[in-house]
Amino acid sequence: MSDKSLHGQRAVVTGGSRGIGLAIVDALSARGAEVVFTARSRESIDTAIAALPEGRNIAGIACDVTDLDRMKTLLDDPIDILVNNAGVIGPIGRITELEVADWAENHRVNVLSAFGAIRLALPGLIQRKGVIVNLSSGAAFNPMEGWSAYCSGKAALAMITRCVHLECGPLGVRAFGLAPGLVDTDMQAAIRASGINPISALPRETLRPAVEPGQAIAWLCTQDAADLAGRDLDIRDPDFRNRSGLEPLE
Ligand SMILES: NC(=O)c1ccc[n+]([C@@H]2O[C@H](COP(=O)([O-])OP(=O)(O)OC[C@H]3O[C@@H](n4cnc5c(N)ncnc54)[C@H](OP(=O)(O)O)[C@@H]3O)[C@@H](O)[C@H]2O)c1
Repeated sequence: MSDKSLHGQRAVVTGGSRGIGLAIVDALSARGAEVVFTARSRESIDTAIAALPEGRNIAGIACDVTDLDRMKTLLDDPIDILVNNAGVIGPIGRITELEVADWAENHRVNVLSAFGAIRLALPGLIQRKGVIVNLSSGAAFNPMEGWSAYCSGKAALAMITRCVHLECGPLGVRAFGLAPGLVDTDMQAAIRASGINPISALPRETLRPAVEPGQAIAWLCTQDAADLAGRDLDIRDPDFRNRSGLEPLE
C-alpha cells in the first residue's frame, strides 16, 4: 500500500452533511477509506449521500455530536481516523450582548463534543496507531470582534490537539489541527449576514472551495504527513499546500 492510500482504514467524520465536512467525506473515501459521517438530521444525511459519488464505502448516521451516549455507539468499534469537523459559529455578538447559556452551547459543540469523541475513540486509535484531525481556525489565535465564543472554543481545541499529541503521540497516534482558510460554506453565509467584523465584509467570491480542505485533510490522514503530527497547520501555508497537493494561492 502506498504512503498516500487509505485503503482498509475506517474513518469517522463529524458534521459531514455539507460544507467542509462533506468534502472531507468525499476526499477520504476517494483515497479508499471506509467513512461514517454524522449530521443531526436524516434529511441532511440523505441529501449528502445523493451528492457523493456512487460506489464508495460511505454511511451517514443521524447523531448530534453533543449526545455522547450516541457517539459512543458509533465509536465503540476501533477506527483509524477521527475528524472533528462539526462546528458552529454562533452566538455572534459583542460580549455585552451575549447570553452565557448561548456561549456555553458553542463550547458544548465545538470543544466538549470534540474532546468527547477523542476520548471515546482513543482506545481504538491507540490500538490501530490512528489519526485525529481537529478543524482549527485562524480565530483560534486571533481575537475577532463578535466571536468570543468561537475564538475561545477554537483556541481550546488547538490546545487539545497539542495535549493529545503530548500524551498519545508516543503511543503512535497522530493528532493534527488544520485551519481550512476562508471557505465558501453555510457558516460563511451566516458570518456575512452578521456584518460584525472584517471577515463578515469579505465578498463571497473571495472564499475558497471546500474541496481544498477536504483534499488537505485526506492527505494529512496518510503516512505521508506523519512528520507533521502535533502541529496546528494552516492551509494557506505555501509549504503545506505544496505537500498536500494543492495549487499555490495567488
Ligand atoms: N467555513 C470556513 O471558512 C471555516 C473557517 C475556519 C474553520 N472552519 C471550521 O470548519 C468546520 C466546518 O465548517 P463549515 O464552514 O463547513 O460549517 P457548516 O457549513 O456550517 O457545516 C457544519 C456541519 O456541522 C454539522 N453540525 C453542526 N452542529 C452539529 C451537531 N451538534 N451535531 C452534529 N453535526 C453538527 C452540520 O450538520 P447538520 O446541520 O446537517 O446537522 C454540518 O454538516 C467547523 O468546525 C468550522 O469551525 C470553517
